[in-house]
Parts: sequence; structure tokens; C-alpha cells
Amino acid sequence: MEKQQGPIGVFDSGYGGLTVLSELQKALPQHDFLYLGDNARSPYGNRSFDVVYEYTLEAVKELFSRGCSLVILACNTASAKALRSIQQTDLPKIAPEKRVLGVIRPSAEVISELTQTKEVGIVATQGTIQSNSYKIELEKYAPTVHITQKACPIWVPLIENNLHNSIPGKMLIKNDMDELIATNPKIDTIILACTHYPIVKSYLEEIVPANIQIIAQGSIVAEKLISYLERHPEIAEKCSKNSLTNYLTTENNLVFDEKASIFMQKPIASSHIKL
Ligand code: DGL
Repeated sequence: MEKQQGPIGVFDSGYGGLTVLSELQKALPQHDFLYLGDNARSPYGNRSFDVVYEYTLEAVKELFSRGCSLVILACNTASAKALRSIQQTDLPKIAPEKRVLGVIRPSAEVISELTQTKEVGIVATQGTIQSNSYKIELEKYAPTVHITQKACPIWVPLIENNLHNSIPGKMLIKNDMDELIATNPKIDTIILACTHYPIVKSYLEEIVPANIQIIAQGSIVAEKLISYLERHPEIAEKCSKNSLTNYLTTENNLVFDEKASIFMQKPIASSHIKL
């Protein structure tokens, strides 16, 4: 019997996961992807654990029902607040043969190779910082690295509303960065631990001291996914390869298309769904 194949699901609360998707497409150009942005209910950053878990599980089930055997939570907030419960409690019941992966562990696995001083800054949503997920994962994968965390709750609304390049937007972002660096001047690496933040990476590089490098997660997640698929041929063989990407959003699809086209720097045509 022929194996059922389907796209790799990529989920984010909104547009941020597109920064991960574009790196996945570069790394795995033959693979198919199905992106789902829960834009109608975004941002997730300040929502409770229960709500982020409930919304993320709905999205994962939707992607499974559309043929995905592997779903990447391309959202730190969802990875921090929902991934473990989905992997440990839900998957064994609803789809033991399918897999859901997040973005925090891949970053934790490479962090110690990136820093000389072993002092790393983490910028993320309130939810990701409060979950302490980076500290927990780093204790496992990079115990010599010390992190200084800073929640930047205003960045996602600024980016989603295209205000990050405005003068007040830039001032707000710079204030957060200055505060983080003042808290720990030994930081030599800052991880953008929110998938929206790569949109402001070049501005951040302008405003931080030259010895600090700014790291976006997309290429790290892509590299780890390649190695995951090599180690898990039983999942790899369920991924279809026609170089196609489709986009789903819980927002009005025309609104999504306009903004997503800016993120992806090419025209995007999505379909609206209800979760
Ligand atoms: N892109 C999400 C993340 O990586 C956050 C956006 C939101 O707050 O919904 O955490």
C-alpha cells in the first residue's frame, strides 16, 4: 500500500512563524509546507498557559487533519506553554504516529557554540520569559551558559502593525535593548526568542555594541529539522516533496496576504479557516 504523505505543518500565532518558514523552505526546497497563522487570536504572548495550550492544540489538530504528520510550532510562546503537554499527553491519545516539534530546544542545543563569554541575552514575549523554558532547556543542553532574560511585550504589536520602523517604535525597541545590556554588560550574544523579532534584526544590529551578535532562530531550527528527518526516516517518508507551500489563516485572508507578503517578500495567497 502506498504511504500517505503530506506537507510539514508550520504553526504560529500570527506572522512571526513566516521568518522560520522561509528558512525551512531554503533548507528543504523540495518539501511541501502548510503554514497556519492564528492571526485572529494573536498575539499569544500575554495569554495564560491554559489558553495558549488550548489554541495551539486546536491548530495542531487542524494541521493533522489536513495531512501533516510533522508539525513545527514556529512560535516560542506556543513552544514554551503548549509543546510539552501536547507531546506527552495529547499525541499518545490522538495521533501516536505523528510528531510535534518546537523552536526552543534547537536554540538551546546550539547556544554554547555561539557565545564566548557564556553570557547570553534572551528577548521574548512575556509568556516565554515567565515560562522559564529557556532556563530549563539550557540547564540540560548548555549548563555553562548564563542567561539574562528580558520580556519585550510591545515588539509583537509594533511588528504586526508595521510600526517597528516608526520613530516611537524604534525608541521603544531601543529602550528594551539598552535595559537588557545595562543589566548584564558581559552579554556577547542575544537570542531573538520570538519568531516575530527577526523583522527588526537589522535595526538591533545597528543599535547594540559591535561585540554583541544578534541571533535569529530560523536557520537553527531548519538545520535541526534536517538532522531530525535524517534520524527519523519513518517521519521523513511521510513528508511530501513537490516544492509547494500553502497558507492558512484565521484572519481575513486578504489582510493576511498583504502582511505576509511583506514578511516573505513575495506575493502570498492564503485561505481563511476557522479553528
Ligand atoms: N511569534 C510568537 C513567539 O515566537 C509570539 C507572538 C505572539 O505573542 O503571539 O513567541
